[in-house]
Amino acid sequence: MKPNWIAPSILSANFAKLGEEVDNVLAAGADIVHFDVMDNHFVPNLTIGPLVCEALRKHGVTAPIDVHLMVEPVDRIIPDFAKAGASIITFHPEASIHIDRTLQLIHDNGCKAGLVFNPGTPLHYLDYVMDKLDIILLMSVNPGFGGQSFIPSALDKLRQVRKIIDDSGLDIRLEIDGGVKADNIRAIKAAGADTFVAGSAIFNQPDYKKVIDDMRVELAL
Ligand code: DX5
Ligand code: ZN
Repeated sequence: MKPNWIAPSILSANFAKLGEEVDNVLAAGADIVHFDVMDNHFVPNLTIGPLVCEALRKHGVTAPIDVHLMVEPVDRIIPDFAKAGASIITFHPEASIHIDRTLQLIHDNGCKAGLVFNPGTPLHYLDYVMDKLDIILLMSVNPGFGGQSFIPSALDKLRQVRKIIDDSGLDIRLEIDGGVKADNIRAIKAAGADTFVAGSAIFNQPDYKKVIDDMRVELAL
């Protein structure tokens, strides 16, 4: 198993002081920064784009930035995010007509690439592109908003994808996004995840370090 990565979703951060929020959550022990990009088309919400990613880099953020694209189409925005300092770029297969080409485009732009599966999206999109994946992201809520409850069927899906990755022998991370909290993170890890996105669970608490420490305790059990 890979080392666990805790990936705070800045969707729940205070955008009026975003640089400080990201500094604080990294100082509190986060491994990577999860960056949710929504277009009010693929999902019913509108958030942030490459300018904000670039601003975080200029602010001095050196941790990996994990860009979760919930936009359609995806290809046009990928080079912009790579230039803005994205480290990982993931997208939903429904948002790209040519998923193999989009994965290649992400790699050609120097970033790690991954596919994202909504709770109701079947896994067959993995069938012919496993060798182009650095990460697989399973949604445990329907995308668009922070603060929703974890959908329990995501645990079975995690177990299925864990087996697919292990059987492939490939070096692919398994990320979970939506409703992750200290009190369910142990079961989520047991189902096979190694990368844990948490937005409201972290940013809605006053002490980020306490939440992340609590998560680490659960992950170590
Ligand atoms: C939902 C986003 C998530 C969200 C997670 O569309 O992809 O990253 O911010 O938020 P919580 O952890 O509050 O469910
Ligand atoms: Zn996300």
